[in-house]
Amino acid sequence: MPAGPYTVGMMQKTQAVRAMVQRLESLQRAGVTHLGKVPQVEPAATPAIEPARDQPQSDVQTAALAAVARDVAACTRCAELARTRKHTVFGAGSPHARLVFVGEAPGVDEDRQGEPFIGRAGKLLTDIIEKGMKLRRKDVYIMNILRCRPPGNRNPLPAEAANCREFLDRQLAVIQPEFICCLGAVAAQNLLETTAPIGRLRGRFHDYRGIKVLCTYHPAYLLRNPAAKKPTWDDIKLLMAEMGG
Ligand code: URA
Ligand code: URA
Repeated sequence: MPAGPYTVGMMQKTQAVRAMVQRLESLQRAGVTHLGKVPQVEPAATPAIEPARDQPQSDVQTAALAAVARDVAACTRCAELARTRKHTVFGAGSPHARLVFVGEAPGVDEDRQGEPFIGRAGKLLTDIIEKGMKLRRKDVYIMNILRCRPPGNRNPLPAEAANCREFLDRQLAVIQPEFICCLGAVAAQNLLETTAPIGRLRGRFHDYRGIKVLCTYHPAYLLRNPAAKKPTWDDIKLLMAEMGG
């Protein structure tokens, strides 16, 4: 039988169902088990094979991230951090982001409000995103190696980073970004599991589970060392070129 409109329609539906099943399986592999309502696949005339990046917020990824956030809020793996924190700082931005920024750990402002990068370094990061990259902060995703503030802003301990890694990986598994930008040595070394200095990690792409990773200086470092703004901007331009903008 020649392929008429009916046959084509069936093929599209089959593809849409397959895409949905793959999505759910990948969420399951990521340990996301509280998806809530399972979405129905509508037999649409032109099914969306690829999820759009500007979908409404009440979708599968939003629900999946909310489930991870509940686990983070209840986490007591790092006894000292759980005892001293005011809030956990889960992450913020779009569940459909192509680009995820990874910082080090919440500071005093972030701990107080439960939001990443809202202090002085955060304002500089927002400028890099909005004035430099011409993106909206709410369209990227921002998180840290740690979801709790280390007392006195000390560096994360290896055990703390290891405890928090499951959450970072689950968030990435839900968002499935194409790009990660590591901010500073702590983020870069932890994510890429290396001891190489940031000066050697920056300026080129690395791979993390199929995601292209660019490392650059931390905005807090830029505030103390304005001379590092130039190489940081070079890194950001490299990232923008790779993202196709
Ligand atoms: N510095 C970080 O690394 N992360 C934040 O969220 C804030 C400051
Ligand atoms: N050391 C860091 O930890 N981060 C930077 O961005 C630069 C130096």
